[in-house]
Amino acid sequence: MSTRKQRGTALRPRHTTAAARATRARSNAGEPSVDFEASTPYDDYVGTRTLHGLLRTITDHPAEPAFLVISQVMELLFGLLRVEFQRAQAQLRADDLDGALASLHRATSHVRTLNGSWASLDWLTPAEFNGFRDDLGEASGFQSYMYRHVEFLLGLKSETLIRPHHSVPDVYADLERALHAPSVYDDVLAFLTRRGVLATGHPPDYAAEYRPRPEVEAMWASIYAAPRPTDPVYLLAEQLTELADAFGTWRYRHLVAVKRSMGAKPGSGGSSGLAWLSRSLEREVFPELWSARTMV
Ligand code: HEM
Repeated sequence: MSTRKQRGTALRPRHTTAAARATRARSNAGEPSVDFEASTPYDDYVGTRTLHGLLRTITDHPAEPAFLVISQVMELLFGLLRVEFQRAQAQLRADDLDGALASLHRATSHVRTLNGSWASLDWLTPAEFNGFRDDLGEASGFQSYMYRHVEFLLGLKSETLIRPHHSVPDVYADLERALHAPSVYDDVLAFLTRRGVLATGHPPDYAAEYRPRPEVEAMWASIYAAPRPTDPVYLLAEQLTELADAFGTWRYRHLVAVKRSMGAKPGSGGSSGLAWLSRSLEREVFPELWSARTMV
């Protein structure tokens, strides 16, 4: 059972019940309701006018609407990932492994949706991209603070990567907090330490780039050496692997989208483009979960 939240000044649909829905369906003779005093409850809930008002293209090039909308869809999904990861962290801290597994499972599904979204841009050729690219100025997904937050939650920490946001105080403060706070992986390892699966180590410097730890690698290796499908720790390891795998696919699909639509030209955000992205891809999510497999 969930509790109903306050929603600021945003419009919200009127609360209803199963009994009221049954009465309404009878009085509507089975058809959907069509008479509303103001905006429809769907509009109120989803914020459709706000969303559609965001399709603000800056050129009349036919390729631009897809580029803009897919960027917006992906931004929303990055925001959704943040919600799921923060929930998983709260659950891990409360030793609620079932809850955390469900949150990580949902998050993995959202990453798969992100991956599928690349299909909407796979037709974008260099000539079409050139048709509106100059008008984007220096705008680049590299400047997505929500993506950066998601990377931090996955343990890919970097102080340098919060700098683009220094002149937007609330965003910068949020990212700085995330940089210095535990990632989902840090919370997983803390949970496993409390469970006695992992020996207590030095308290990590959360803001520093994550360095793989031999004791963590050995722990995952011991779990994979004799996998038991009903072992909750094994289920957690596999769920994290699914997540890292799916996220790696997003990063790879992005790289391929870049290759297809602009080759090895420099990026709009000031980087060398493909070469920079390839280096960025080398930063591994949950590294010991991968390296442990060599030891089994
Ligand atoms: C096919 C069109 C796209 C091209 C050509 C492209 C190109 C690039 C390039 C060259 C970079 C490196 C930084 C720079 O700009 O210099 C970059 C980074 C990035 N782009 Fe894209 N991009 C595309 C679509 C998207 C979309 C739809 C998103 C989703 C919001 C996105 C999100 C990102 C992110 C998050 C980064 C930073 C990656 C990292 O830090 O490793 N890109 N992009």
